[in-house]
Amino acid sequence: MPLFDVYPLYNVTPVSGKGIHVYDDQGTEYLDLYGGHAVISIGHAHPNYVEAVTKQVETLGFYSNAIQNPLQKQLANKLEQLSGCKDYQLFLVNSGAEANENALKLASFKTGKSRVIAFKNGFHGRTSAAVAATDNPNVVAPLNAQQKVTFLELNDVEGVKRELEKGDVCAVIVEFIQGVGGLDQGTTEFFEQVDALCKANNTMFIADEIQCGYARSGKFFAFQHYNVTPDIISLAKGMGNGFPIGGIFIHPDIEAKYGMLGTTFGGNHLACAAGLSVLNTIESENLLDNVNNIGAYFVEKAKAIPQIKQIKGRGLMLGLEFDFEVGDLRKDLIYNYKIFTGGAANKKLLRILPPLNIEKQHIDQFFEALTKALVKIEATV
Ligand SMILES: Cc1ncc(COP(=O)(O)O)c(C=O)c1O
Repeated sequence: MPLFDVYPLYNVTPVSGKGIHVYDDQGTEYLDLYGGHAVISIGHAHPNYVEAVTKQVETLGFYSNAIQNPLQKQLANKLEQLSGCKDYQLFLVNSGAEANENALKLASFKTGKSRVIAFKNGFHGRTSAAVAATDNPNVVAPLNAQQKVTFLELNDVEGVKRELEKGDVCAVIVEFIQGVGGLDQGTTEFFEQVDALCKANNTMFIADEIQCGYARSGKFFAFQHYNVTPDIISLAKGMGNGFPIGGIFIHPDIEAKYGMLGTTFGGNHLACAAGLSVLNTIESENLLDNVNNIGAYFVEKAKAIPQIKQIKGRGLMLGLEFDFEVGDLRKDLIYNYKIFTGGAANKKLLRILPPLNIEKQHIDQFFEALTKALVKIEATV
Protein backbone atom coordinates (compact mmCIF):
# COMPACT_ATOMS: atom_id res chain seq x y z
CA MET A 1 0.00 0.00 0.00
CA PRO A 2 1.51 3.41 -0.90
CA LEU A 3 1.76 6.08 1.76
CA PHE A 4 -0.65 8.99 1.31
CA ASP A 5 1.73 11.37 -0.38
CA VAL A 6 1.32 14.65 1.50
CA TYR A 7 4.91 15.38 2.54
CA PRO A 8 7.61 16.59 0.15
CA LEU A 9 10.61 14.63 1.50
CA TYR A 10 14.34 15.27 1.65
CA ASN A 11 16.34 12.27 0.50
CA VAL A 12 17.83 11.57 3.95
CA THR A 13 17.02 8.59 6.19
CA PRO A 14 17.98 9.20 9.81
CA VAL A 15 18.18 5.95 11.76
CA SER A 16 19.69 7.14 15.05
CA GLY A 17 20.35 10.30 17.00
CA LYS A 18 22.51 11.49 19.88
CA GLY A 19 22.40 14.96 21.37
CA ILE A 20 22.43 17.60 18.61
CA HIS A 21 23.11 15.05 15.85
CA VAL A 22 21.25 12.47 13.80
CA TYR A 23 22.91 9.71 11.75
CA ASP A 24 21.59 8.33 8.47
CA ASP A 25 21.54 4.75 7.19
CA GLN A 26 25.07 5.24 5.77
CA GLY A 27 26.43 6.46 9.13
CA THR A 28 26.67 10.11 7.98
CA GLU A 29 26.37 12.63 10.82
CA TYR A 30 23.96 15.58 10.49
CA LEU A 31 23.83 18.63 12.74
CA ASP A 32 20.20 19.11 13.76
CA LEU A 33 19.34 22.81 13.95
CA TYR A 34 15.65 22.09 13.47
CA GLY A 35 14.78 19.44 16.08
CA GLY A 36 12.09 17.97 13.83
CA HIS A 37 9.94 21.17 14.01
CA ALA A 38 11.04 22.30 17.53
CA VAL A 39 10.21 18.92 19.05
CA ILE A 40 13.63 17.75 20.24
CA SER A 41 14.09 19.87 23.34
CA ILE A 42 16.71 18.04 25.45
CA GLY A 43 18.55 16.34 22.56
CA HIS A 44 18.21 13.04 20.73
CA ALA A 45 18.37 9.92 22.93
CA HIS A 46 19.12 11.94 26.08
CA PRO A 47 20.09 9.37 28.77
CA ASN A 48 17.49 10.72 31.26
CA TYR A 49 14.79 10.38 28.62
CA VAL A 50 15.87 6.92 27.50
CA GLU A 51 15.98 5.70 31.08
CA ALA A 52 12.59 7.18 32.03
CA VAL A 53 10.77 5.87 28.96
CA THR A 54 12.44 2.45 29.14
CA LYS A 55 11.64 2.01 32.83
CA GLN A 56 8.04 3.11 32.33
CA VAL A 57 7.35 0.88 29.34
CA GLU A 58 8.75 -2.06 31.29
CA THR A 59 6.41 -1.23 34.18
CA LEU A 60 3.11 0.16 32.85
CA GLY A 61 2.95 1.83 29.45
CA PHE A 62 -0.74 2.72 29.39
CA TYR A 63 -3.97 2.71 31.23
CA SER A 64 -7.01 4.87 30.51
CA ASN A 65 -8.14 8.05 32.25
CA ALA A 66 -10.61 6.10 34.39
CA ILE A 67 -8.03 5.30 37.10
CA GLN A 68 -5.64 7.20 39.38
CA ASN A 69 -2.44 8.15 37.54
CA PRO A 70 -0.01 9.83 39.97
CA LEU A 71 2.38 10.57 37.07
CA GLN A 72 -0.12 13.16 35.74
CA LYS A 73 -0.08 14.96 39.09
CA GLN A 74 3.73 14.86 39.22
CA LEU A 75 3.87 16.31 35.72
CA ALA A 76 1.35 19.04 36.62
CA ASN A 77 3.32 19.99 39.76
CA LYS A 78 6.63 20.12 37.90
CA LEU A 79 5.06 22.20 35.14
CA GLU A 80 3.69 24.65 37.69
CA GLN A 81 7.09 24.90 39.39
CA LEU A 82 9.15 25.43 36.23
CA SER A 83 6.66 27.69 34.42
CA GLY A 84 5.82 29.79 37.47
CA CYS A 85 2.15 29.73 36.33
CA LYS A 86 0.40 29.29 39.66
CA ASP A 87 -3.04 27.76 40.21
CA TYR A 88 -3.75 26.79 36.60
CA GLN A 89 -5.28 23.35 35.95
CA LEU A 90 -3.73 20.89 33.48
CA PHE A 91 -5.49 18.82 30.81
CA LEU A 92 -3.27 16.43 28.88
CA VAL A 93 -3.62 15.48 25.20
CA ASN A 94 -1.42 14.03 22.45
CA SER A 95 -0.56 16.80 20.01
CA GLY A 96 -0.56 20.54 19.38
CA ALA A 97 -3.71 20.61 17.27
CA GLU A 98 -5.56 18.66 19.93
CA ALA A 99 -4.37 21.11 22.59
CA ASN A 100 -5.72 24.08 20.60
CA GLU A 101 -8.92 22.22 19.70
CA ASN A 102 -9.64 21.69 23.39
CA ALA A 103 -8.57 25.25 24.25
CA LEU A 104 -11.04 26.69 21.74
CA LYS A 105 -13.78 24.30 22.81
CA LEU A 106 -13.26 25.25 26.45
CA ALA A 107 -13.38 28.97 25.58
CA SER A 108 -16.73 28.36 23.90
CA PHE A 109 -18.06 26.29 26.81
CA LYS A 110 -16.98 28.97 29.30
CA THR A 111 -18.36 32.02 27.47
CA GLY A 112 -21.31 30.46 25.63
CA LYS A 113 -20.04 32.24 22.49
CA SER A 114 -18.61 30.79 19.27
CA ARG A 115 -16.61 33.25 17.13
CA VAL A 116 -12.82 33.21 17.26
CA ILE A 117 -10.31 35.97 16.54
CA ALA A 118 -7.04 34.74 15.04
CA PHE A 119 -4.19 36.50 13.24
CA LYS A 120 -2.82 36.66 9.71
CA ASN A 121 -0.02 34.18 9.08
CA GLY A 122 -0.88 32.26 12.27
CA PHE A 123 -0.77 28.47 12.48
CA HIS A 124 -2.70 26.50 15.11
CA GLY A 125 -2.97 22.95 13.75
CA ARG A 126 -5.08 20.81 11.47
CA THR A 127 -8.11 19.66 13.49
CA SER A 128 -11.50 21.28 13.05
CA ALA A 129 -11.46 24.51 15.07
CA ALA A 130 -7.65 24.74 15.13
CA VAL A 131 -7.37 24.60 11.35
CA ALA A 132 -10.21 27.08 10.93
CA ALA A 133 -8.12 29.49 13.04
CA THR A 134 -5.07 28.84 10.82
CA ASP A 135 -4.44 31.44 8.13
CA ASN A 136 -3.85 29.11 5.19
CA PRO A 137 -6.84 28.34 2.92
CA ASN A 138 -4.96 25.35 1.44
CA VAL A 139 -5.36 23.37 4.65
CA VAL A 140 -8.96 24.40 5.49
CA ALA A 141 -11.57 21.98 4.08
CA PRO A 142 -15.15 23.18 3.47
CA LEU A 143 -16.15 21.24 6.61
CA ASN A 144 -13.73 23.30 8.74
CA ALA A 145 -14.68 26.56 7.06
CA GLN A 146 -18.06 26.42 8.84
CA GLN A 147 -16.39 27.66 12.02
CA LYS A 148 -16.69 31.38 12.65
CA VAL A 149 -13.18 32.86 12.61
CA THR A 150 -12.14 36.44 11.90
CA PHE A 151 -8.51 37.04 10.93
CA LEU A 152 -6.87 40.32 11.86
CA GLU A 153 -3.41 41.73 11.25
CA LEU A 154 -0.99 41.24 14.11
CA ASN A 155 -0.84 44.52 16.11
CA ASP A 156 -4.35 45.61 15.01
CA VAL A 157 -5.56 46.56 18.51
CA GLU A 158 -8.43 48.64 17.11
CA GLY A 159 -9.63 45.64 15.09
CA VAL A 160 -9.58 43.40 18.17
CA LYS A 161 -11.51 46.04 20.15
CA ARG A 162 -14.09 46.44 17.39
CA GLU A 163 -14.64 42.69 17.05
CA LEU A 164 -14.77 41.91 20.80
CA GLU A 165 -17.31 44.66 21.40
CA LYS A 166 -19.73 42.85 19.08
CA GLY A 167 -20.15 40.42 22.00
CA ASP A 168 -19.96 37.06 20.17
CA VAL A 169 -16.24 36.25 20.44
CA CYS A 170 -15.31 33.31 22.67
CA ALA A 171 -11.55 33.41 22.15
CA VAL A 172 -8.60 35.34 20.83
CA ILE A 173 -5.83 32.88 19.93
CA VAL A 174 -2.28 34.03 19.24
CA GLU A 175 1.28 32.72 18.94
CA PHE A 176 3.54 35.07 20.88
CA ILE A 177 6.22 34.24 18.30
CA GLN A 178 4.76 32.95 15.04
CA GLY A 179 6.37 29.64 14.07
CA VAL A 180 5.21 28.30 10.72
CA GLY A 181 4.38 31.85 9.56
CA GLY A 182 7.95 33.08 9.92
CA LEU A 183 8.94 34.28 13.42
CA ASP A 184 6.98 37.56 13.47
CA GLN A 185 5.93 38.92 16.87
CA GLY A 186 3.32 41.42 18.04
CA THR A 187 4.36 44.49 19.99
CA THR A 188 4.25 44.68 23.79
CA GLU A 189 1.41 47.22 23.55
CA PHE A 190 -0.57 44.88 21.28
CA PHE A 191 -0.29 41.82 23.52
CA GLU A 192 -1.05 43.75 26.71
CA GLN A 193 -4.05 45.55 25.21
CA VAL A 194 -5.48 42.36 23.75
CA ASP A 195 -5.16 40.77 27.20
CA ALA A 196 -7.08 43.69 28.76
CA LEU A 197 -9.71 43.70 25.99
CA CYS A 198 -10.34 39.97 26.48
CA LYS A 199 -10.84 40.48 30.20
CA ALA A 200 -13.23 43.38 29.61
CA ASN A 201 -15.34 41.46 27.09
CA ASN A 202 -15.71 37.96 28.60
CA THR A 203 -13.43 36.52 25.91
CA MET A 204 -10.79 33.86 26.61
CA PHE A 205 -7.22 34.83 25.74
CA ILE A 206 -5.44 31.72 24.40
CA ALA A 207 -1.66 31.70 24.21
CA ASP A 208 -0.56 29.12 21.64
CA GLU A 209 2.82 28.16 23.12
CA ILE A 210 3.05 24.94 21.15
CA GLN A 211 6.17 26.02 19.27
CA CYS A 212 7.42 29.11 21.15
CA GLY A 213 6.91 27.65 24.65
CA TYR A 214 8.82 25.17 26.78
CA ALA A 215 11.90 27.35 27.39
CA ARG A 216 12.54 27.93 23.69
CA SER A 217 12.14 31.72 23.79
CA GLY A 218 14.44 32.21 26.81
CA LYS A 219 11.57 32.17 29.33
CA PHE A 220 9.46 29.11 30.06
CA PHE A 221 6.62 30.60 28.01
CA ALA A 222 7.01 33.30 25.35
CA PHE A 223 4.03 35.24 26.77
CA GLN A 224 6.10 35.74 29.94
CA HIS A 225 8.11 38.39 28.10
CA TYR A 226 4.95 40.54 28.53
CA ASN A 227 2.62 41.51 31.34
CA VAL A 228 -0.33 39.30 30.39
CA THR A 229 -2.34 36.49 31.99
CA PRO A 230 -3.74 34.12 29.37
CA ASP A 231 -6.89 32.19 30.27
CA ILE A 232 -5.63 29.11 28.44
CA ILE A 233 -2.09 28.17 27.40
CA SER A 234 -1.56 25.40 24.85
CA LEU A 235 1.63 23.36 24.72
CA ALA A 236 3.04 20.35 22.87
CA LYS A 237 6.18 19.99 20.69
CA GLY A 238 9.12 20.27 23.15
CA MET A 239 7.09 18.69 25.93
CA GLY A 240 7.95 15.05 25.15
CA ASN A 241 11.27 15.35 23.25
CA GLY A 242 9.59 13.32 20.50
CA PHE A 243 7.07 11.37 22.53
CA PRO A 244 3.60 12.61 21.45
CA ILE A 245 2.20 14.68 24.31
CA GLY A 246 0.41 18.01 24.53
CA GLY A 247 -1.61 19.88 27.08
CA ILE A 248 -3.48 22.98 28.09
CA PHE A 249 -3.09 25.12 31.18
CA ILE A 250 -6.54 26.28 32.24
CA HIS A 251 -7.09 29.36 34.42
CA PRO A 252 -8.70 28.64 37.83
CA ASP A 253 -11.76 30.72 36.80
CA ILE A 254 -12.68 28.00 34.31
CA GLU A 255 -14.45 25.24 36.19
CA ALA A 256 -14.18 21.60 35.17
CA LYS A 257 -17.24 19.37 34.78
CA TYR A 258 -17.10 15.60 34.40
CA GLY A 259 -17.14 14.64 30.75
CA MET A 260 -16.53 18.18 29.47
CA LEU A 261 -13.23 17.15 27.82
CA GLY A 262 -11.74 13.72 27.36
CA THR A 263 -9.25 11.56 25.48
CA THR A 264 -8.21 7.91 25.38
CA PHE A 265 -4.46 8.32 25.04
CA GLY A 266 -3.88 11.80 26.52
CA GLY A 267 -1.83 11.78 29.72
CA ASN A 268 -0.93 8.09 29.53
CA HIS A 269 1.82 6.73 31.77
CA LEU A 270 4.48 6.57 29.09
CA ALA A 271 3.80 10.13 27.90
CA CYS A 272 3.95 11.44 31.47
CA ALA A 273 7.25 9.65 32.12
CA ALA A 274 8.71 11.17 28.95
CA GLY A 275 7.35 14.61 29.89
CA LEU A 276 8.72 14.44 33.42
CA SER A 277 12.19 13.48 32.20
CA VAL A 278 12.17 16.50 29.85
CA LEU A 279 11.22 18.91 32.66
CA ASN A 280 13.74 17.39 35.09
CA THR A 281 16.45 17.79 32.46
CA ILE A 282 15.48 21.38 31.61
CA GLU A 283 15.89 22.08 35.34
CA SER A 284 19.02 20.05 36.14
CA GLU A 285 20.94 21.21 33.06
CA ASN A 286 19.86 24.88 33.41
CA LEU A 287 18.64 24.83 29.83
CA LEU A 288 16.92 28.21 30.13
CA ASP A 289 20.33 29.79 30.75
CA ASN A 290 21.76 27.89 27.81
CA VAL A 291 18.94 29.11 25.55
CA ASN A 292 19.67 32.72 26.48
CA ASN A 293 23.46 32.38 26.17
CA ILE A 294 23.56 30.43 22.94
CA GLY A 295 20.69 32.46 21.46
CA ALA A 296 22.67 35.67 22.06
CA TYR A 297 25.82 34.06 20.61
CA PHE A 298 23.88 33.00 17.50
CA VAL A 299 22.47 36.50 16.99
CA GLU A 300 25.95 38.09 17.31
CA LYS A 301 27.34 35.74 14.67
CA ALA A 302 24.33 36.36 12.40
CA LYS A 303 24.83 40.13 12.61
CA ALA A 304 28.25 39.71 10.98
CA ILE A 305 26.74 38.23 7.80
CA PRO A 306 25.71 41.01 5.39
CA GLN A 307 23.36 38.81 3.32
CA ILE A 308 21.10 38.39 6.39
CA LYS A 309 18.58 41.20 6.11
CA GLN A 310 16.76 40.59 9.39
CA ILE A 311 17.15 38.38 12.45
CA LYS A 312 13.78 37.40 13.93
CA GLY A 313 12.58 35.55 17.03
CA ARG A 314 14.01 35.07 20.52
CA GLY A 315 16.17 32.58 22.40
CA LEU A 316 16.57 29.45 20.29
CA MET A 317 13.54 30.17 18.13
CA LEU A 318 15.24 32.21 15.46
CA GLY A 319 14.69 33.21 11.86
CA LEU A 320 17.24 34.51 9.39
CA GLU A 321 15.63 36.53 6.61
CA PHE A 322 17.38 36.95 3.27
CA ASP A 323 16.36 38.84 0.15
CA PHE A 324 16.04 35.58 -1.81
CA GLU A 325 14.01 32.39 -1.31
CA VAL A 326 15.95 29.91 0.85
CA GLY A 327 14.75 26.57 -0.59
CA ASP A 328 18.02 25.93 -2.46
CA LEU A 329 20.11 27.16 0.46
CA ARG A 330 18.39 24.66 2.77
CA LYS A 331 19.06 21.87 0.26
CA ASP A 332 22.73 22.89 0.00
CA LEU A 333 23.03 22.95 3.81
CA ILE A 334 21.50 19.52 4.20
CA TYR A 335 23.16 17.68 1.28
CA ASN A 336 26.58 19.33 1.17
CA TYR A 337 27.15 20.56 4.74
CA LYS A 338 25.01 17.96 6.57
CA ILE A 339 22.98 20.50 8.53
CA PHE A 340 19.20 20.44 9.05
CA THR A 341 17.43 23.81 9.10
CA GLY A 342 13.78 24.77 8.64
CA GLY A 343 11.71 26.88 6.27
CA ALA A 344 8.56 28.92 6.90
CA ALA A 345 5.53 30.33 5.08
CA ASN A 346 7.82 33.32 4.52
CA LYS A 347 9.94 31.70 1.80
CA LYS A 348 12.90 34.01 2.43
CA LEU A 349 13.31 32.88 6.00
CA LEU A 350 15.53 30.14 7.42
CA ARG A 351 14.07 28.79 10.67
CA ILE A 352 16.43 27.68 13.44
CA LEU A 353 14.96 25.49 16.22
CA PRO A 354 17.78 23.40 17.67
CA PRO A 355 17.71 21.23 20.80
CA LEU A 356 17.95 23.51 23.84
CA ASN A 357 21.30 22.05 24.94
CA ILE A 358 23.15 23.06 21.77
CA GLU A 359 26.67 24.45 22.25
CA LYS A 360 28.74 27.27 20.72
CA GLN A 361 30.80 24.85 18.61
CA HIS A 362 27.65 23.78 16.77
CA ILE A 363 26.72 27.38 16.07
CA ASP A 364 30.26 27.98 14.75
CA GLN A 365 29.91 24.96 12.47
CA PHE A 366 26.62 26.32 11.12
CA PHE A 367 27.96 29.80 10.38
CA GLU A 368 31.05 28.39 8.67
CA ALA A 369 28.80 26.33 6.42
CA LEU A 370 26.36 29.18 5.84
CA THR A 371 29.16 31.55 4.85
CA LYS A 372 30.46 29.05 2.28
CA ALA A 373 26.97 28.32 0.97
CA LEU A 374 26.24 32.02 0.55
CA VAL A 375 29.45 32.53 -1.45
CA LYS A 376 28.25 29.78 -3.80
CA ILE A 377 24.82 31.43 -4.14
CA GLU A 378 26.40 34.82 -4.93
CA ALA A 379 28.58 33.22 -7.58
CA THR A 380 25.50 31.85 -9.37
CA VAL A 381 23.53 35.13 -9.54
C1 LIG B 1 2.07 27.25 16.96
C2 LIG B 1 1.57 25.90 16.59
N1 LIG B 1 0.36 25.52 17.01
C3 LIG B 1 -0.13 24.30 16.72
C4 LIG B 1 0.60 23.39 15.99
C5 LIG B 1 0.03 22.02 15.69
O1 LIG B 1 0.73 21.05 16.37
P1 LIG B 1 0.64 19.50 15.92
O2 LIG B 1 1.34 19.39 14.60
O3 LIG B 1 1.33 18.76 17.04
O4 LIG B 1 -0.79 19.15 15.83
C6 LIG B 1 1.86 23.75 15.53
C7 LIG B 1 2.65 22.82 14.69
O5 LIG B 1 3.53 23.20 13.95
C8 LIG B 1 2.36 25.04 15.83
O6 LIG B 1 3.56 25.43 15.40
